[in-house]
Amino acid sequence: MISGIRLFDEVDSTQNIAHRLAEDGAPEGTLVIAEQQTNGRGRMGRKWVSPAGKGIWMSFVLRPGMPIHFAPQLTLLTAVALCRALRAAAQPLDIGIKWPNDLLIGGKKISGILLESTAEEERLRYVIAGVGISVNLTADDYPPELLDIATSLRIQLGKPLDRSEIIAGFFAQFQQLYAIYQREGFSPIQMLWEALSVTLHKPTRLFIDGAETIATPIGLSEQGALLARKDDGTVVPLFSAEQLLPA
Ligand code: BTN
Repeated sequence: MISGIRLFDEVDSTQNIAHRLAEDGAPEGTLVIAEQQTNGRGRMGRKWVSPAGKGIWMSFVLRPGMPIHFAPQLTLLTAVALCRALRAAAQPLDIGIKWPNDLLIGGKKISGILLESTAEEERLRYVIAGVGISVNLTADDYPPELLDIATSLRIQLGKPLDRSEIIAGFFAQFQQLYAIYQREGFSPIQMLWEALSVTLHKPTRLFIDGAETIATPIGLSEQGALLARKDDGTVVPLFSAEQLLPA
């Protein structure tokens, strides 16, 4: 799966480096890892806290060559690989996936995924999969306002973990799932995702059609949308994490 590794002490964002390499023709599996990001980013342009030596900040190139509307499935596949790898590395922590791309422990975020794709004529040219894992951050590493919603494996376990082992574990999982996905399509990945999800089967405050509504997420659509059942029995698809409102 990994065709080459570029290691950096400091970058603005591993996403930017990986985009540049992909534009220059880097093959699938090109991996960019940095000890520190000065301008790490999350979804919706949010800042991603990426202090030196404390976490895993990495981006890798995929060239799945498929129609662009399949891109959300790759986010979900990455989340499954990450959840399985982190559960194995950080036993006995109960790590789950919040749709579509956050990994949580006890409601607090420990890891996030950012997939950025470029397409030509509705087909994916390449995808940059960015993964941030808060491995060995301590409470001092977070701005105070994030401490209620974010945590690290070290804070949760009470001891630091080896980052290389987690990276190796993640890519072993990713390679296995990506091969299944390319052979058999999304359904086996969907089943694994649903089993690891903390989003499903609980009545939840959702933002649907411009209004706040209580509905129950019941599963995923073929394309990775979250399906929620409203009180009147109708099932609606959700396309953005921002539609999930805080409890
Ligand atoms: C999110 O939860 O909003 C996604 C966070 C993704 C963070 C990772 S860290 C490595 C890569 N480089 C970035 O600038 N962002 C991603």
